[in-house]
Amino acid sequence: MAALCRRAVVLFQTTKTLPYVLTAARKCSTAGTQYNYLIVDKRGENKNVGFIQLNRPKALNALCDGLMKEMNQALDAFENDAQVGAIIITGNEKSFAAGADIKEMQNRTFQECYGGNFLSHWNRVSTVRKPIIAAVNGFALGGGCELAMMCDIIYAGEKAQFGQPEILLGTVPGAGGTQRLTRAVGKSLAMEMVLTGDRISAKEAKESGLVSKIFPVEQLVEEALRCGEKIANNSKLVCAMAKEAVNAAFELTLTEGSRFEKRIFHATFATDDRKEGMTAFVEKRKANFKDN
Ligand code: HXC
Repeated sequence: MAALCRRAVVLFQTTKTLPYVLTAARKCSTAGTQYNYLIVDKRGENKNVGFIQLNRPKALNALCDGLMKEMNQALDAFENDAQVGAIIITGNEKSFAAGADIKEMQNRTFQECYGGNFLSHWNRVSTVRKPIIAAVNGFALGGGCELAMMCDIIYAGEKAQFGQPEILLGTVPGAGGTQRLTRAVGKSLAMEMVLTGDRISAKEAKESGLVSKIFPVEQLVEEALRCGEKIANNSKLVCAMAKEAVNAAFELTLTEGSRFEKRIFHATFATDDRKEGMTAFVEKRKANFKDN
């Protein structure tokens, strides 16, 4: 077992661009996971940021079934990896993801879609408890835009384009496009995008609140990593609580949400990290969180 783990670590250290063999401690027991559509890595000074790069460049990272299944595997591994405190999902400079794979969908019937609950497994991204940053360069269209919106923070490269072009294919968004986009940018712009299929630029996405920051294309991933490290260096336990509280704002009334927030705030007082954070402030030193 120990030898197997050591082998996985050596593979990790020597494998840079090949499909990555996952090295998270818990995965050693299953001898590692091989990815065909993703590059999966741990980054940052403390290797505490999980990194997932969509790697289907010839199809502009169209989200085929195999890719989304691998995405779920990688997310499960990072969710279970105590070292990881934040996750980045990115594509390449031309495309974050150009949507669900149209060639896979082309001949599907209603019976297959409804009966098999088609694409229900896409939802995993939105149930991960660790913070996820989408670093979007190029196209984020259809399911690609929806994938970004399932993440907690969206950073965009200055040439990014966001859109829900499903209407041009005779269908509608199916992974939150009509719901998350409307909450993010408001009714008028969401309606315009969903009904015309028109794309918006990174600048428009920033102005409308869809993305929080824009960076030069080549700096995007580095900046996302910087943000991921900041998050991962905080208490992972308390970050999960904070994420849960912010997400509750999308589901609850203001009174219910504020009450929920207060309960979470009180709950932080049951953690060692809350005590450490406040003590460190008083002692004028940096907090040393133990995720406890
Ligand atoms: C399958 C795709 C694809 C997609 C691009 N490709 N998008 N394959 N599914 N979504 C493939 C093309 O077929 C082509 O393969 C290669 O990628 C390069 O694409 P081009 O069209 O030649 O590139 P370009 O001219 O630069 O145009 C880029 C583009 C365009 C504007 C992004 O490809 C495009 O409009 N793609 C479709 C975008 C879209 O409609 N997305 C929504 C999908 S529906 P070949 O083999 O020909 O070289 C959806 C529903 C989600 O996402 C529901 C979730 C539940």
